[in-house]
Amino acid sequence: MTISLMPLPYALDALEPHISSKTLEIHHGAHHKTYVDKLNAAIEGSDNADKSVEEITKLASGPLFNNAAQTWNHGFYWHSLNPAKTAPSVELLAAIEADFGSLDALLEALSAEAVNHFASGWAWLVVDGGKLKVISTHDAGTPITTDVNPLITIDVWEHAYYIDQQNKRPVYVKTVLENLINWDFASENFARGTAWTYPA
Ligand code: FE2
Repeated sequence: MTISLMPLPYALDALEPHISSKTLEIHHGAHHKTYVDKLNAAIEGSDNADKSVEEITKLASGPLFNNAAQTWNHGFYWHSLNPAKTAPSVELLAAIEADFGSLDALLEALSAEAVNHFASGWAWLVVDGGKLKVISTHDAGTPITTDVNPLITIDVWEHAYYIDQQNKRPVYVKTVLENLINWDFASENFARGTAWTYPA
């Protein structure tokens, strides 16, 4: 079994002007593709050859973990973005209001986590033990190695924003939070209650 480079769920220019087609072309076609290619090269002919991205991520360490986790994280990130205006489901909004007070308060917490995370990594909205939480992971770190259910992520590696915003991560995070968060995806993940699965 070969792990696929998940196609983007939209056209390369679909997120403009917030995220340029050039950024998506390189982020998906070079960065994500390289993680997938290295993952496939590492598992070919091994005991992991027929395992899913999730299975490999949970059992691996070192470079194998990095490439598997980054394959999964990027697939999840593409779905976390959406050019259409979406809103949390009634159920998810109720949980947001119970755990953060308001949607604006959640967005502020997610913004602070994404902006203040040191160096490369990911900011996430997750469900942990029935409670919504904002967390971040370093480098290839991913919540699927724990029991939490991720709902949304923001890639805060520089390659996610350097072409469009250079070193201004706060501008990228604000742009994503105000224009691109896919609340339909978050709501589906919340309703399912278990982590999203990378397409085979
Ligand atoms: Fe990335």
